[in-house]
Amino acid sequence: MDKELKIYIAGHRGMVGSAVWRALEKKGYTNLIGKTSKELDLKNQEAVAAFLEEEKPGAIIDAAARVGGILANNEYPYQFLMENMQIQNNLIDSALKTGIEKFIFLGSSCIYPKFAPQPLKEEYLLTDSLEPTNEWYAVAKITGVKLCQAIRKQFHKDYVSLMPTNLYGYFDNFDLKTSHVLPAMIRKFHEAKNNNNADVTLWGSGTPMREFLFVDDMAEAVVYALENELPEYLYNVGSGKDITIKELAETIQKVTGHQGNIVWDSEKPDGTPRKLMDVSKMKEIGWQSKTELEEGIEKTYDWFLSNIDTIKQVKM
Ligand SMILES: NC(=O)c1ccc[n+]([C@@H]2O[C@H](COP(=O)([O-])OP(=O)(O)OC[C@H]3O[C@@H](n4cnc5c(N)ncnc54)[C@H](OP(=O)(O)O)[C@@H]3O)[C@@H](O)[C@H]2O)c1
Repeated sequence: MDKELKIYIAGHRGMVGSAVWRALEKKGYTNLIGKTSKELDLKNQEAVAAFLEEEKPGAIIDAAARVGGILANNEYPYQFLMENMQIQNNLIDSALKTGIEKFIFLGSSCIYPKFAPQPLKEEYLLTDSLEPTNEWYAVAKITGVKLCQAIRKQFHKDYVSLMPTNLYGYFDNFDLKTSHVLPAMIRKFHEAKNNNNADVTLWGSGTPMREFLFVDDMAEAVVYALENELPEYLYNVGSGKDITIKELAETIQKVTGHQGNIVWDSEKPDGTPRKLMDVSKMKEIGWQSKTELEEGIEKTYDWFLSNIDTIKQVKM
C-alpha cells in the first residue's frame, strides 16, 4: 500500500486511535491526520463534511466514540446512544459523499446478544436481546456496522467493521470509577503494594471468564484491514483465549509485585459467566494476535509507572 496515502484517524488521542497511529508510523506511513474533539467535534455534521471535503483522505479509521462502563451507560443513556450515532453517522455519511473508498469502523463485543452461545460468532448479531446495561452504546454500534454493510452492498466500497474484545494497554483509563477490570486491577494492586502490601478486595467470586487483547495487537489488526480488502463486512478481533478473573488477578499481582492477600467479595455481582469472541474469521484471512497476556500486562504496568502523574481520567 502507498505509504503516502492520506489516512485520517478519528479519535487519534484515544487508547485505540493512538495505538493505530503508532502502528502506522512504525510501518512507514507518512501522511496521517488527526483532530482532537476540541479542534473538530465529530457530532457537528457540517464541520465533519467540510473537514473531509477539504482533506479528502484516502482512508478513514473511526476510533472515536463516547466510551464508558456500566455506570456511565446507566447514567447517560441518551448521550451514549445519540453521541455515538452522531459521531459515526457524520463520519460514514460524509466519507461516502466525499468518495472515500476505505473506511474501518470500530465497534465492540457488546453488539452481540446477552445470551448468545460462546464463543461469539459474527453471525450471532441481531439474533436475540442485548445486555440491558449497555444497550444504548450497543445499539449505536450496531447501526454503525449496518451502515458500513449497506454501503458495501449498495455502493461496493470497502467499508468494514472490526469488533474488538476487551482491550488494555498504553493510554488506558486507570480511573477506578470508570475504568475496565484490567486497568482497575493494575491500579489496585499497585496502590496496595505501596500501602504495606495491604489486602486487595475484588468484586464477585473470581470465576467469570473474560478475554483480553493488548491494544497494539488491535492496532495491527486495523493496519491489516487497511492494507487488505476483507471479504466480509464484520470481523471479531480478539486473542481467542479467555481466563478467569481470578487468574487475571493473580497475573497482575505477580507483575506488580504485590505480596498481600486477595479477598473476593462474593456479595458483589459476578456479571456474565463467560465472554469470548470467536476469532476464526480473522485467522482464516491471515491475522492473529501476538502478545501473551502476561507480557501485555508487563508492558501496561511499565507504562502506568512511567505515566503515573498524568494518567488519563475519564471526564463525563
Ligand atoms: N477500550 C476498549 O476496551 C475497547 C473495547 C472494544 C471496543 N473499543 C472501541 O474502540 C474505539 C476507541 O475506544 P478507546 O478505548 O480508544 O476510547 P478512548 O480512549 O476514550 O478514545 C476515544 C476518542 O474518541 C474521541 N472523541 C470522543 N468524542 C468525540 C467527538 N465528539 N469529536 C471528536 N472526537 C471525539 C476522543 O477525542 P479527544 O481525546 O480529542 O477528546 C478520544 O480520543 C471505540 O469505538 C470503542 O468502542 C474499545
